Amino acid sequence: MDMDWVHEMYRRILVKENAAAKRNRDKIPYTTKDGVFDDRGKNDICWWTNGFWGGMMWQLYHATHEPVYLENALQTEIKLDANLMNRQGMDHDSGFKWLPTAVAHYRMTGDKASRNRALLAADNLAGRFNPVGKFIRAWNNWDGNEDGSFAGRAIIDCMMNLPLLYWAGEELHDPRFCHIAKMHADTAMKYFIREDGSAKHIVEFDAQTGAYLHSVGGQGYGHGSSWTRGQGWAVYGFILSYLHTGEERYLAVSKKTADYFIANIPDSGLIPVDFRQPPEPAYEDSTAAAIAACGMLELAKYVPENEKQTYKNAAIKLLKALADKRCNWDENTDNLLEKCTAAYHDAEHEFSIIYGDYYFIEAIWKLMGTELFIW
Ligand code: GLY
Repeated sequence: MDMDWVHEMYRRILVKENAAAKRNRDKIPYTTKDGVFDDRGKNDICWWTNGFWGGMMWQLYHATHEPVYLENALQTEIKLDANLMNRQGMDHDSGFKWLPTAVAHYRMTGDKASRNRALLAADNLAGRFNPVGKFIRAWNNWDGNEDGSFAGRAIIDCMMNLPLLYWAGEELHDPRFCHIAKMHADTAMKYFIREDGSAKHIVEFDAQTGAYLHSVGGQGYGHGSSWTRGQGWAVYGFILSYLHTGEERYLAVSKKTADYFIANIPDSGLIPVDFRQPPEPAYEDSTAAAIAACGMLELAKYVPENEKQTYKNAAIKLLKALADKRCNWDENTDNLLEKCTAAYHDAEHEFSIIYGDYYFIEAIWKLMGTELFIW
């Protein structure tokens, strides 16, 4: 591996993020306007991405022990308590919110209040399990609309939330959490992953009988398409279920979804929003590249020696394309990644999104050996 390049990335990230962390001490950002972070946490503390800024701060603190990162991480975690007290704002994304904040804090320091927060979040996540359909319900109905229409919906992204359950189960020596996580992972394996290795985004079950009804288009191009960030969640999520459970079937699915992703990487190394979107408009999503790279680097640890290089090389191709063409290295601009897209059919595309920055940093930290393991 080109360790000189990795060291250079590490150095450039530290210069850039140190400036950004000092300029944005009291925020929980989601995106930028004219290169300046917004404060999504101020207006919408329950937003699903609100854990990533804290996660970035913990990764940076773990590597440097500079107080600014610790201070920013702690303020994010405390602010998220308002979400814990808001039932409507508690959905399946508790893993994305409390693993990179409270669990990271607990892993770093053994803080008891952080452990308590993360266990409350895990209890709530476990409570979303539908025992007949054997899936974790993704979203609540929109506020004030308790018609149950989302009661049967599960999404591939939830694979990344399962580690909160694995963690809670280990912490409490209570196997219920792991049983629930594995049952959801098995359902996802059966109904979300197609024969060719591509992943569906949303699957709808009958919440009463548990029967599979159909899949729904979601954030990619449409029904039957191949949303790239969802593919990244599958690669990374299944390998995480493997490392927490040792069940070989999750390793196999992670490989299958990674092989599909790799077969579809364009020569440029830049990732579209959907592998099956029309040639124009050619919307990109840099977050998908960063997430898939993290998943492939993790996967490379568990495959036989002769397969490791395939996944590492693919991850490095994705990261180098981002570093050369989609990273903004200007210290005066808050965001790192550019051209991130939340959903194909949204009005806006190709802007900065905080989890893109988070996963790019996590991937470089994996290569450097400075990662705080969060998932
Ligand atoms: N978890 C939602 C998304 O990936 O956009």
